[in-house]
Amino acid sequence: KSIVILISGRGSNMQAIVRAAVPGVRIAAVVSNRPDAAGLDFAAAHGIACAVVDHKGFADRTAFDAALAETIDGYRPDLVVLAGFMRVLTDDFVRRYAGRLMNIHPSLLPAFPGLHTHRRALEAGVRVHGATVHFVTPTLDCGPIVVQAAVPVLPDDDEAALAARVLAQEHRIYPQAVRWFAEGRLGLGADGRVRLRGEL
Ligand code: GRF
Repeated sequence: KSIVILISGRGSNMQAIVRAAVPGVRIAAVVSNRPDAAGLDFAAAHGIACAVVDHKGFADRTAFDAALAETIDGYRPDLVVLAGFMRVLTDDFVRRYAGRLMNIHPSLLPAFPGLHTHRRALEAGVRVHGATVHFVTPTLDCGPIVVQAAVPVLPDDDEAALAARVLAQEHRIYPQAVRWFAEGRLGLGADGRVRLRGEL
């Protein structure tokens, strides 16, 4: 299976997927909407094709998403993986990749969609927090859930400590979801529900 990974910055989830070297998965390209994304250096150093589609060069989301889709489709991916990609995508873009577009979100969805999840978790006083891999649907951070990992919220946690604990789990569950997809065990049913077969 061929995958394209979309990033906007550090790209540590992308790095975790690259390092996992999932059998049967070829990372066709890493695409960033920011030319200065640190993750691009890692990808290039690993011999992975890199592309930048700078959102600043487009008048609106529709034009940006059309250019992004054109770039992605040039690599003919079976799966598109959002890994810290910080742009909201149009409904048309999301529908084009229905069932083959995944995202990772740093909370136990449906709790804390959107930004600043760790700060909001601390403010809410939750005792458990975590990360979610989900298929992307038009409503932000609301798509069908593939896999989650929970971590405790500890009494002395600040945002950075909690984020680091969650990130370690992100780096475990995102490669796992990619592996399930590559093995043909994971998909999105016509009813919009996740299908996950066999041994986990
Ligand atoms: C991760 O916490 C991810 O869940 C969120 O943004 C962060 C990106 O980190 N969407 P990285 O670029 O993968 O290091």
